[in-house]
Amino acid sequence: MAFLQTIRNLLLPFASREDVPVVPAPMTAYSVRPLTETDLDEVLRLNLRCFVNGENYTKHTFNYLLTQPNALCYQIATAERAMAGFICVLVAENGAAHVTTIGVAPEHRRRGLAEKLLTHVDTALFEKGVGSIMLEVRVSNRAAQQLYLSCGFSIVQRLSSYYNNGEDGFLMVKAVDGGGEARTRNDRPERG
Ligand SMILES: CC(C)(COP(=O)(O)OP(=O)(O)OC[C@H]1O[C@@H](n2cnc3c(N)ncnc32)[C@H](O)[C@@H]1OP(=O)(O)O)[C@@H](O)C(=O)NCCC(=O)NCCS
Repeated sequence: MAFLQTIRNLLLPFASREDVPVVPAPMTAYSVRPLTETDLDEVLRLNLRCFVNGENYTKHTFNYLLTQPNALCYQIATAERAMAGFICVLVAENGAAHVTTIGVAPEHRRRGLAEKLLTHVDTALFEKGVGSIMLEVRVSNRAAQQLYLSCGFSIVQRLSSYYNNGEDGFLMVKAVDGGGEARTRNDRPERG
C-alpha cells in the first residue's frame, strides 16, 4: 500500500498529497468575503487540496456555481487576502437552500472557519427569507458531520449508494435561523 501511495503522490499535485504533514498556518485575522469568478483559479487550487480523493469539483462546475444568480458563494480569507476556505450554496426555485461544497485549507482547520462560513450563509439566507438549508455528506466523513451537527443540522435520511464509489450519504437539514445557533459557538475566544 505504501508503494501505491508513493505512485499516487507522484501523479498528484504536491498540495494534494496525503502524507505531507500539515503545519498550522500562523494566526491571522480572517474575514468572510464574496467568492467571485475572479477567484476561480484560487478556489480550484484550494478545492484540490481539500478534496484529495477525487471528490473535487471541476473548473466547469465552479464556473457554473460562481455565475449562477441563485448561488451564494463566499470565501474566508487571511489578513493577506489568501483564500483559507470556501462555500457555495444554491437556492432552488422552491426556496430550499443546498450546500453544494465547503472546504477549509488543512493548515487553517479547527479554527472555526467552516462554522463562520456556515453562519455567514445562514445569515444571508435568513435575510432572503429562505427557510431551510440542506446538504449531503459521506457516512465516512465524520469531521464534516460533526461540523454540521455543531451548527444545528440534523441527519434526516440515509442515502443508499449516493456517491460514485457506492458509498452511502446522509441528508442533513436545518432551519435557517440567521446564524444564531452557530454564532453562539463562534462567540468563543479565537481558536488557534
Ligand atoms: C469539514 C471541514 C470543512 C471543517 O472545517 P474547519 O474549519 O476545520 O471546521 P471548524 O473549525 O469550523 O469546526 C467546527 C466544529 O466542527 C467539528 N469538527 C471539525 N473538524 C473536525 C474533525 N476533524 N474531527 C472532529 N470534529 C470536527 C468540531 O465540532 C469543531 O468544533 P471544535 O473545533 O470546537 O471541536 C474541513 O475539515 C474540510 O475542508 N474537510 C475536507 C472537505 C470536506 O470534507 N468538506 C465537507 C464535504 S460534505
